[in-house]
Amino acid sequence: MSAKLIKGAEVAAQIRAELKKEVEELKAKHNVTPGLVTILVGEDPASVSYVTAKQKTSHELGFYSIQDNQSPDITEDTLLALIDKYNKDPKIHGILVQLPLPKHIDSNKVLYAIDPDKDVDAFHPVNVGRLCIGTGIFLPCTPAGCKELINRGYGDPKGKELVVVGRSNIVGKPMVNIMLQKAPGANATVTVVHTGTPQEKIIEHCRRADILVVAAGVPKYVKGDWVKEGACVIDVGVNRIGVTESGKAKLCGDVDFDEVKEKAGCITPVPGGVGPMTITMLMSNTVMAAKHAAGLV
Ligand code: GUN
Repeated sequence: MSAKLIKGAEVAAQIRAELKKEVEELKAKHNVTPGLVTILVGEDPASVSYVTAKQKTSHELGFYSIQDNQSPDITEDTLLALIDKYNKDPKIHGILVQLPLPKHIDSNKVLYAIDPDKDVDAFHPVNVGRLCIGTGIFLPCTPAGCKELINRGYGDPKGKELVVVGRSNIVGKPMVNIMLQKAPGANATVTVVHTGTPQEKIIEHCRRADILVVAAGVPKYVKGDWVKEGACVIDVGVNRIGVTESGKAKLCGDVDFDEVKEKAGCITPVPGGVGPMTITMLMSNTVMAAKHAAGLV
């Protein structure tokens, strides 16, 4: 069997088209323009490229959008004062501080200074708590993207065995909390395996999974014989494994794609699977923050 590909770029384009329409309606009917500020400290090339992509997408969707570039020497106090300014700015609904920050700045102190209702990354402990309880207005972007890919590429996960490989704060743990909620598009029976789980148990749990979400941080970690026939496999990993002839980075996921595609029913490729969804979910969170601020949700 050869698995159906879940193409993140296509799903992301579909969601962005839906968001664009929603933004037009928000402007026309409610005089609300979603506002996003992305704060970049320093000039790390990967961060510059991520922030540029976020700005480009927010302009395409018709947001009020600010790119705030700061010197790598900015003091923690100055950065905290900047966040306070945006917390108080009614035109700004979403604040994103691009990580990593320089070593002299305490990243947690900065992230925790963002108003939770403007925290479109959903990294603030208040939003982590809201997610656990099921009262959050937005979800962290990467696991939210995985949920959309499962819903649109596989179907309803209600009652299915869903296994998450990895327990990071930005993917594994929120993925567990999102998918176990008694909510549409979730309501799965969730297990998480991690570096503390004996290898033979990891394989045993993976083999039971109807839906397998892999964020292990190890290239080609999940093998073909770990996967149930017909399972949905979502690969969050992005690993550089060399350079192509044209000089581009050669990427692979945390799933051994060539082996697993012969067993799975559907699978996300790397690149072109989860990656394109992350920025789109950030846009979705910003629209949600704007609607929440306007009392529309
Ligand atoms: N750096 C890499 N990924 C992310 C992300 O999702 N959010 C923020 N704020 N910084 C990042």
